Amino acid sequence: MARVSILGGGTWGIALAVLLCNNGHEVTVWSAVEKEIQMLREEREHKMLPGVKLPDSMKFTMDDEEAIKGQSILVMAVASSFTRRTADRISSLVAPGQIIVNVAKGIEEATMMTLSQIIEEEIPQADVAVLSGPSHAEEVGRGLPTTVVVGAKSRETAEYIQNVFMSPVFRVYTSPDILGIELGGSLKNVVALAAGIADGLGYGDNAKAALITRGITEISRLGTVMGGRAETFSGLTGIGDLIVTCASMHSRNRRAGILIGQGKTYQQAMDEVQQVVEGVYSAKAAMKLAEKYQVQLPIITQVNKVLFEGKNPAEAVKELMLRDKKSEVSVASWS
Ligand SMILES: NC(=O)c1ccc[n+]([C@@H]2O[C@H](COP(=O)([O-])OP(=O)(O)OC[C@H]3O[C@@H](n4cnc5c(N)ncnc54)[C@H](O)[C@@H]3O)[C@@H](O)[C@H]2O)c1
Repeated sequence: MARVSILGGGTWGIALAVLLCNNGHEVTVWSAVEKEIQMLREEREHKMLPGVKLPDSMKFTMDDEEAIKGQSILVMAVASSFTRRTADRISSLVAPGQIIVNVAKGIEEATMMTLSQIIEEEIPQADVAVLSGPSHAEEVGRGLPTTVVVGAKSRETAEYIQNVFMSPVFRVYTSPDILGIELGGSLKNVVALAAGIADGLGYGDNAKAALITRGITEISRLGTVMGGRAETFSGLTGIGDLIVTCASMHSRNRRAGILIGQGKTYQQAMDEVQQVVEGVYSAKAAMKLAEKYQVQLPIITQVNKVLFEGKNPAEAVKELMLRDKKSEVSVASWS
C-alpha cells in the first residue's frame, strides 16, 4: 500500500483519487481552495463528476505538512496556471527523492517550460515524473477502461508508479520520454481548439480527420526537434490523446473552439465553458517554440491568429487549404 496525496481537487485529481482508493492505497486530497475542500468533505462527491461517490477512506486537507510529509507519491493535479505557485509553496516540505507525478497539461508561456520542468526548477530535490494519455476524468471516475503512460527518469520510479496506478480498468505503460509525453499532452489542446472551431463552422468528419492527422504531424515535428521521441507522438500521449480531445464533448478545449467557430471571442468562450481553457495559453507558447526551433506549425499558427488577432475562422481555414502545395512524405520518391 502506498500513501498518496493528490494536490488539486478538480475533476482529474478526484478521478485519480477514486482510482487509487479502489486500488487499496491511502489517499489524501489537498487543495488551496477552501470551498472546494469543504464541498468534497461534506458532499463526498465532485459536482462535475455526478454519481461518482468518494470512498469513506479518502481524506481531505488544506494543511501543507499533512499533505506532503511522509507520502510515497505526490500527484500534482492543479490547473497548469497554478503549477509553479503550488510547487513553490510546498518545496521546503518535499524530501529528497520524494516522487511527484505531474498529471496536468500545459506549457508556461513566459518561459516555454513544460510543467515537470517547472516542478523540477521549484523542487530540485524531487523525483519528478508524469502521467498522461487519453483519459477523461468523467470516464476514469466511473471506472471505464483507460490506458495511460507514465514517464520517469528511472525505470525503477516508472515501474513503481505503474504498480500503484495499474488496475483492471486502468492500464499503465512506462516510458523514459518525459518531454515527448508532456509536449503531446499540451500541444493537443491547441489542435483541439482548431477541431472545435471546425465543428463550430459546421464542417464535417473530413475536416476533423484532416486536423487530427496534420495536427499530430505538427506536434511531432516540433516535439522531435526539441528532443521528444517520434514513437511517443504516435502513441497514447500523442495521437491517442489528440483523438480523444478532438472528438469528445468532455474536452473543454474543443467546446471552447466550437463557440469560437460560432463567432465568440476566446474570452467569451472561456467564460461560457467556465473552466480554464489551457490550449489558449499553450497556443502562445507553441508559437514561441516554433520560432525558437525554426519549425512550421500551420494549424497552430492559424489558431493563434483567430484567438489573438481577431482573424475570421473561415478565413483561417481557407488559408490552410490554399497554402503552398506540398508532398505528404518528407522525401518524395516515385521510383
Ligand atoms: N479533467 C480531465 O479529464 C483531465 C484529464 C487529464 C489531464 N487533465 C489535466 O489535469 C489538470 C487539472 O484538470 P482538472 O480538470 O482537474 O481541473 P481544473 O482546471 O478544474 O482545476 C484543477 C484544480 O486546480 C486547483 N486550483 C484552483 N485554483 C488554485 C489556486 N489558486 N492555487 C492552487 N490550486 C488551485 C483546484 O484544486 C482545482 O480544482 C489540467 O492541467 C488538465 O489539463 C485533466
